[in-house]
Amino acid sequence: MNDLKSYLTDDSIFFAPSLDPGHAIGTLLDRGLEQYGVPGPEAGVPDVLWGPERYALDRSSVYTALASDQQEAVLRKISRWNLSLSYFIEKSGHNYGAKMILLADRMEEKSLYCLFSAEEAIHLRLFRNFMNFTPDPATDWHPMLDPLARVIREGSKEACVLLIQVLLEGFGMGHYRSLMEDCRHPALVQAFQRILRDEARHHGAGLVLAKESGLRSGDRDECFEFTREFVGALQSAHWVLRALEEVGGPLSSGERSHHLESVGHRRVLEKRLNSLRDMLLKADREQLVSRLERDGVFRVRETG
Ligand SMILES: [Fe+2]
Ligand SMILES: [Fe+2]
Repeated sequence: MNDLKSYLTDDSIFFAPSLDPGHAIGTLLDRGLEQYGVPGPEAGVPDVLWGPERYALDRSSVYTALASDQQEAVLRKISRWNLSLSYFIEKSGHNYGAKMILLADRMEEKSLYCLFSAEEAIHLRLFRNFMNFTPDPATDWHPMLDPLARVIREGSKEACVLLIQVLLEGFGMGHYRSLMEDCRHPALVQAFQRILRDEARHHGAGLVLAKESGLRSGDRDECFEFTREFVGALQSAHWVLRALEEVGGPLSSGERSHHLESVGHRRVLEKRLNSLRDMLLKADREQLVSRLERDGVFRVRETG
């Protein structure tokens, strides 16, 4: 397992370089994806794919005080970040699949992870079809991607199943579903539908495997720490506030809290944290959830 780590660097997980257009390998990939019924790039994709209603921005005086071109710029940034996060997650799924194929000790398990990996390649292309930009980690990074890469690199097989497939893919399904429901662009809604069907299988397989194998005692501590990191990263991400400040200038701490209160931030975050806890409960044979609860991991932290 230790030998595998050297192949699972951040560079390999997130930043493998792309070939120039027209390269033979790219052409082979395009043909392969066509055979799986993956459509080509979308023309005329708008820069704003989710409207203000998704973030209850119409209730925020910080947002409504902006000029309409500034409001548009805020929505453009958030649309870009939503796609960028999905892009990095699907990229990481390639290396996750590779690790799990190698660690599987039964043939059916290997075949299953081969299928999953093919689906992650399809998902990446489906998202890329709507992106007229290449995400830049300096500006388009989400803090959850750091613990994600660490689990893929360092997690035992059992910890990976629980954290990546049960926790993150389960959580990701809810996230993708809500992005799909609020999305303004019908072709992207269709792409989400296809991706969600696959992710449901990835999550379901995670549940079966996690229940079957359980966790060794070292894995329990590892899963506890990683879950704490994920939840911390989720709580620290404030994309909407960041977009508002980048467009309209810095906000005072009073304005920040007023904005968060107006858009019901606490309620939304509580719902997300509960959904993370429920995902883990589905496969929790080791009282991981009660330990996390005792530690206050699922409690909403105050934002400054
Ligand atoms: Fe995926
Ligand atoms: Fe997946």
